[in-house]
Amino acid sequence: LPDEPFDNEADTDFSLEANVDWIRARVAEEKEAPPAKVPLQIGGIPHDGKGTATTEDPSRPGTVVCEYAEAGWDEVMEAIETAVDARQRWMAKPAAERTEILLQAAAELSAVRGKAIATMVREAGKSVVEADVEVSEAIDFANYYARSLSADGWSDGSSFTPIGPVVVTPPWNFPFAIPCGGVLAPLAAGTSVILKPAPQTVLTAWVMAEALWRAGVPREVLQFVPCPDGPVGQELVTDSRIGAVILTGGFDTARLFLSWKPDMNLFAETSGKNSLIITAAADPDLAVKDLVRSAFGHAGQKCSAASLAILEAEVFNDPSFRRKLADAASSLRVGPSWDFASVVTPVIRPPGPELRRALSSLDGGESWLVEPRQDPENPQLWSPGIKLGVKPDSWFRRTECFGPVLGVVCARDLRHAIEIQNDSSFALTGGLHSLDPQEIARWREQAQVGNGYINRPITGAIVRRQPFGGWKQSCFGPGAKAGGPNYVAQFGAWEDAAPPE
Ligand code: ALA
Repeated sequence: LPDEPFDNEADTDFSLEANVDWIRARVAEEKEAPPAKVPLQIGGIPHDGKGTATTEDPSRPGTVVCEYAEAGWDEVMEAIETAVDARQRWMAKPAAERTEILLQAAAELSAVRGKAIATMVREAGKSVVEADVEVSEAIDFANYYARSLSADGWSDGSSFTPIGPVVVTPPWNFPFAIPCGGVLAPLAAGTSVILKPAPQTVLTAWVMAEALWRAGVPREVLQFVPCPDGPVGQELVTDSRIGAVILTGGFDTARLFLSWKPDMNLFAETSGKNSLIITAAADPDLAVKDLVRSAFGHAGQKCSAASLAILEAEVFNDPSFRRKLADAASSLRVGPSWDFASVVTPVIRPPGPELRRALSSLDGGESWLVEPRQDPENPQLWSPGIKLGVKPDSWFRRTECFGPVLGVVCARDLRHAIEIQNDSSFALTGGLHSLDPQEIARWREQAQVGNGYINRPITGAIVRRQPFGGWKQSCFGPGAKAGGPNYVAQFGAWEDAAPPE
């Protein structure tokens, strides 16, 4: 067990000019770099695979960021066979050695902070600040999971047997931290991992995986296997030798996986329709600041983002609150991720039908408090939009849109607001802004959310302080939260060697 207690990693302090100069230089270098080539990593060596695909720069649509190899059937079979063997060797290692490697992983992830930020700016369209916090979170996962099994009760008197190899299928919206946490937890438990990165952000995942290999994770224990959806991807997640699948993605994807294999050992965090309640007892300035950050950070594409603000009628009807909210949203700098000052950056791909509808039309009773505008040069870049008067039973209230658009709902009182907040099949994040202790107590008791936040943004969970996970249809599996107690222990079982008292 490492001597030092767990501490969260500090984000970069961009109030210091030297740090701004440092990241500007890294980002400028990345912008000029030719497209990268990313191979498969199977059986301990790079492979060309059966085909290739590319990722693109959301700030410069059509500009290729990387060309990556895709696995076919044979490569997937080889990866699974390797993972089965590699698990035996990895689980036989003393736990202390694995812990050391995870601690070294934290150091290696820290060493690539600049490269990781610049790659996310280039490939995920993230702002520098949003990319920076992801690197901190990835380092936190390494440091936290390194200590996890011991903290969860692994002692000399117990043995722990990890499950079979784990397939990790992360999303593009947190392309560095989520694959990192997804990979490190099963590695900490002693099993092997096949990482199938999100097709939009393969280079970012590769930068992360390289840091883990440099830290001493054997290449057979962590394999890197992009593959197309369809029969090959289906085989990877359904093969009987795979012990579990970690998915962070849409509800429909989780349902599809389960339709392929109903008894799949699936650990999934899926869709949300998250809301922040603001009552008349809130500090309006603080509430507006946190709401705008929750709604428009990473262009509203976080699974945790606020898609709805539920305002108590007194707040909803207050012209001064409306003005503050409109001013705060309209003053956010909209621009390419390459520009250090940009806050609202492009969406990952041209809006699909749902986001397009959300950004371009209104339903009955709705009006624009702030009308979103599409950039004339980049169809993926939109300024924030705020719809006023969204009805609790409307299309927008029910639909996850994943973009820079916020709906504002009017509630009679807190009780009504909680009713609206809870009336959803999803329950990922949610929040309350109120300075009234009685309101806070009532909300704590009644809110049905996976991660609930009081007087704070509803995005940006911090490892250990706010373990992250959903409830209702936002979660599949046993449900221990990422970055919290018992998460690692889900990937195996304890056998107590000591005789019962
Ligand atoms: N962990 C991410 C957040 O809390 C999803 O915003």
